[in-house]
Parts: sequence; structure tokens; C-alpha cells
Amino acid sequence: MAVATAPKSDVKNFKLAVEGKKRILWADRDMPVLQKIRERFAQEKPLAGLRMAACLPVTVETANLMRTLQAGGADVVLCASNPLSTQDDVAASLVQDFGIATYAIRGEDNNTYYEHIVAALAHEPHLTMDDGADLVSSLIFVALDRLDDVHAEVRKWATSMPANQRQALITQIVASMEETTTGVNRLRAMEKDKVLKFPVIAVNDAQTKHFFDNRYGTGQSTIDGIVRATDLLIAGKVVVVAGYGWCGKGVALRARGMGAVVIVTEVDPIRALEAAMDGFAVLPMADALSRGELYITVTGNAHILRREHFLGMRDGAMLANSGHFDIEIDLKALEAESREVNRGVREHVDEYVLKSGKRLYVLGEGRLVNLAAAHGHPASVMDMSFATQALASEWAFQNKGKLAPVVHKLPVEIEQRISALKLASMGIQIDTLTDAQLKYMSGWEQGT
Ligand code: NAI
Repeated sequence: MAVATAPKSDVKNFKLAVEGKKRILWADRDMPVLQKIRERFAQEKPLAGLRMAACLPVTVETANLMRTLQAGGADVVLCASNPLSTQDDVAASLVQDFGIATYAIRGEDNNTYYEHIVAALAHEPHLTMDDGADLVSSLIFVALDRLDDVHAEVRKWATSMPANQRQALITQIVASMEETTTGVNRLRAMEKDKVLKFPVIAVNDAQTKHFFDNRYGTGQSTIDGIVRATDLLIAGKVVVVAGYGWCGKGVALRARGMGAVVIVTEVDPIRALEAAMDGFAVLPMADALSRGELYITVTGNAHILRREHFLGMRDGAMLANSGHFDIEIDLKALEAESREVNRGVREHVDEYVLKSGKRLYVLGEGRLVNLAAAHGHPASVMDMSFATQALASEWAFQNKGKLAPVVHKLPVEIEQRISALKLASMGIQIDTLTDAQLKYMSGWEQGT
């Protein structure tokens, strides 16, 4: 059933909507917490009258989040937070079947990516939702009048408005939600530089998000992306995981679970120690090179694999990234060291032949491999992340005008509510504290 008047949009092909809708509804079966929130939102309309702009991977799970926000009464626009994460069938169905304005085409170039960001910002949102902070950083550059620092599309749009209209765009923002570690890091840097103009909710930092999504979601889907791209046998492979944060732990755990020999590289002594005590070999990258067969970067930092590393790697090594931006593998340096680059030797695989004749393989153009070569996290884990997003939006709106323009954490009661709903959906019951235990836990008098 197509909506009577489809909203404005830019998607690849509406013929894909049939398949997209089927997949969105299939994923919804695995998102019981979000479903419950959607049912309540449909009755209570807690987001009524709000315009929202979301910049997220355009996946089936995101589609179900958009449906939930819409059920809550929000007028929602969606654009992609990464050029390779868009599922074109989902984008088509969102517009055609669910009436949600969507601007996203898989593989879009940088100009189109920013055209789509502008389309979302032109919606004049009260709430924004980011995965990597591209919406907010564009807005902040505009607010600061630093138009030389924004992409040309954003500049063109900003200069087409009078200065007071530009400022109004910023002042009407109630809050912004941020989905990922890299985005939260950028927003904390904005807070430190005192340029943040509205409150931000660090959804990533909620336990219901990074404990599960970053660890189990990234762990499984990163291996899934690599296997789909290469058909590699993981058992017996020497896998080097750069970064032992929440995502790195998940990737290392799942690689080991499939029989890989896993080496971890780190720069943080606490995380390195944790990896060592979890039973992984911990080495500097330079020392891992003679052994590594598959490299997975997941640090949120830049140039983790760079020139000197490429030169030291074994012939045939494969390189994948699951950190937010495509800067963890220094592809410019790799190209400069190559005498030949054979793109698409297999879907999602580019072959770099170094001057020495050695061949290295880059998966998913160095972008998030779980989204480029697979479908991202399973719906069941996104259920928790997006339940957190939906309740964060509601909480931010309820607290309109009361939150300072800094990065906020969600109240723990919201995390507990989400976890309780998820447990209930899994049929798992837990104990409750007795009165005596409650008293003991909240007192200090009882000791040895
Ligand atoms: P985190 O902050 O928990 O962990 C990052 C780890 O990388 C830290 O332990 C840090 O010490 C380490 N690190 C930094 N520089 C390093 C270097 N030069 N060499 C080795 N290790 C280094 O962050 P988290 O949550 O694990 O996220 C990592 C990245 O993954 C971020 O960019 C985040 O946005 C992204 N992400 C990707 C997802 C996906 O779907 N692929 C899902 C969630 C997050």
C-alpha cells in the first residue's frame, strides 16, 4: 500500500520498495522493545509537533526507528550517515510505504552525500539524530559563520539564507541525539571548545547501546561482512584487531570463536591489559605484521594502518575497517605505494599490487565493512540501540529548555526500563532485591 502523497525524497528506485517493505517488517519481528514503544507512542504522541532530521545508516532497523518516531507524532526526514550503508530498497519503501522523506542512495558521492545532509537540515529540525555528528557539525559551522570549513553544498545552502534565519535554525533545536563513539568524541570536543549551541544526548554512552550494539552487533556483523566479501575460512587465520574498545572486544571475541588466532593492538594500557587477560596476544602493530593475514581496524582513530605497515605485511593480507570513518586505513598512502590497483576483483574487494609485487586486499573501500559488505548489526541488537534513541528523543523533548548545551548521559532508569523490556521479550526473569538486601546495599553500618 503506497502512501497517497509520497514526500519529497531522493532514492535510487521506487521499484525496490516491495522488497524493502518485506525486509523492514521482517526485521521488526526481532525488535519487540521498539514495537512496544511504537505502540505507546501511537497512543500518547509524545513527539507531536516536532520536526526531526535523522542522519543514520539507512537500514531496515533504522526504518523501524523512523516508523516509531513518526508514530510518536514527529515529522521525520532521514538521510544517510555513510555513502555505503544505504539499503536502496529500504530507502524506497520508507518513502513509498511509510511516507517518510528519505535522501539516500547507496554509493552516492561526497557532493550528493552533503546535498542529502542539506535536505535534512532544510527541514528545520527541532530534534536531530546523528551517527557520526555530520548533521550537528554542519550546523555548528554554520552557527559560527565558519563557512569556509563546510562542504560546498552546505555553504551554498547557508549563504542562500539571511543571517537571522541561519541563527534561528540553531536556536530552535531542542536537542540532538548521537548514536556512535566517534560522534560522541567529536561532540565532546565541541563542548570543550565551547562551540556546542544546544544539548546533545550521548545515546552511544547508554549501557543499553554500547554494551550490546558495539560489542555483539559489531562483533558479529564485522565478521559477517568480511566473510561475505571474501568467502574466507576464519578458522586458523591470524587476525589482527586494532583497538580493544567495545567494538574491538566484540570483533576479537567472535574471530576467536570461529577459530582464528587473534592478535590485539592497542595504545591504552588498561585496554591492552584487558585484552591480554582475556587471553589475546597483544603486540605493537609493527610486530604483528609478519604474522597477520587479516587486519581489522576498529579504533575510531586515523591512520592505524599506514605506509610502513603496508610495506611490512605478508603477501595476500586482507584489510578491513569497522571504525566509523574511512580513515583508519590510509588508502592514499597505499595507493602511492602500489604499482597497480585492481578495483572490484570481487564485489567489495580491491587489489593493491605494491611496487615489490606483493598484493594486499582492501575490503569495502576501507569503510565500515559490516555495512558495506553485509547488512550491519542484526535487528535484535539494534532493537536496544533504537529503543534508546526513541526514549532519548522523548526525554529530551520532555526536558526542553532545561538541559545545558553540553553532552548529556541518559538517566539510568531509562536504560533499566529498556533492559527489562528486552529481558521480558526473551522470556528471561530475574530476581529482585529483598528488603534486607536493599537495606544492606544502601547502608554503611554492617561490616565484618
Ligand atoms: P572505544 O573508544 O571503546 O574503543 C576504541 C579503542 O581504540 C580504544 O581502546 C583506544 O585506545 C583504541 N585505539 C585508539 N587509537 C589506537 C591506535 N592507534 N592503535 C590501537 N588502538 C587504538 O570505541 P568503540 O565503541 O569500540 O568504537 C570504535 C569505532 O567504531 C568508533 O569509530 C565507533 O564510532 C565505531 N563503531 C562502529 C560500529 C559499526 O557498526 N561498525 C558500531 C559502533 C561503533
